[in-house]
Amino acid sequence: MEVVIVESADEVARVAAGLIARVIRSRKAASGAAAIGVATGSSPLGTYRELAALVDAGQLDVHGVSAFALDEYVGIPTEHPESYHTVIARNVTEPLGLDPALVHVPDGLAEDIDAACEGYERQIAAAGGVDIQLLGIGANGHVGFNEPTSSLASRTRLKTLAPRTRADNARFFDSPEQVPVHCVTQGIGTILDARHLLLVAQGEGKADAVAQMIEGPVSSMCPASALQLHPEATVVIDRAAASKLRLTEFYEYVQQHTPRD
Ligand code: F6R
Repeated sequence: MEVVIVESADEVARVAAGLIARVIRSRKAASGAAAIGVATGSSPLGTYRELAALVDAGQLDVHGVSAFALDEYVGIPTEHPESYHTVIARNVTEPLGLDPALVHVPDGLAEDIDAACEGYERQIAAAGGVDIQLLGIGANGHVGFNEPTSSLASRTRLKTLAPRTRADNARFFDSPEQVPVHCVTQGIGTILDARHLLLVAQGEGKADAVAQMIEGPVSSMCPASALQLHPEATVVIDRAAASKLRLTEFYEYVQQHTPRD
């Protein structure tokens, strides 16, 4: 796992956007269009703003780029301001100018949720897989909505949100009870299929989960620790999120002596 520790949340956003832009450009240079995996929540917002700025400045061409969201709530309408359909449209599709027909979010309203989840997996496969998956991390170590004890081999499916996740996400709703209890989420196996994983985290509230993910054992108790199994995983964090790591000096030494650009 590549661990990049930077000084501020703004720098997390700039570094992460630079990595995503590089993947989009290299797919384009090979006459293709990238498929990017996108997360909701607060952590990636700065990264989306940086990407939108690159597009606006004419430095990044996203024509043909497709996007796949990690997850969606079950039980709130698509047009709800906090449904992930709406959140992805507001923070990703519109500011980056992606073609809405190429932006996919799991269906939390399907009558047959299992079939819809299987269909989502097929859509990802039909796009040729995800080139780079942007991730945040829950304070309890979740990625996507794969809560602790989720199977590390899991695929897209219906899940129950942990009470802590509902409490953490209550800030997006008028009251804590309005946070849905269920969701559909890409599984950890689905996430690990992406060619690159890029996790961003800022702030002290994530420090324990970040330390478990990077330096703890691979365990379903910290689903994000599954990133250790991926050969191309990059974690970009600020000092506060890095504050519980034991090998900080080593990560910095590696960054100063990187064998590639
Ligand atoms: C969002 C998602 C979650 C969040 C995580 C962190 O699509 O899958 O795993 O990335 O809950 O949320 P924030 O960034 O709001 O702290």
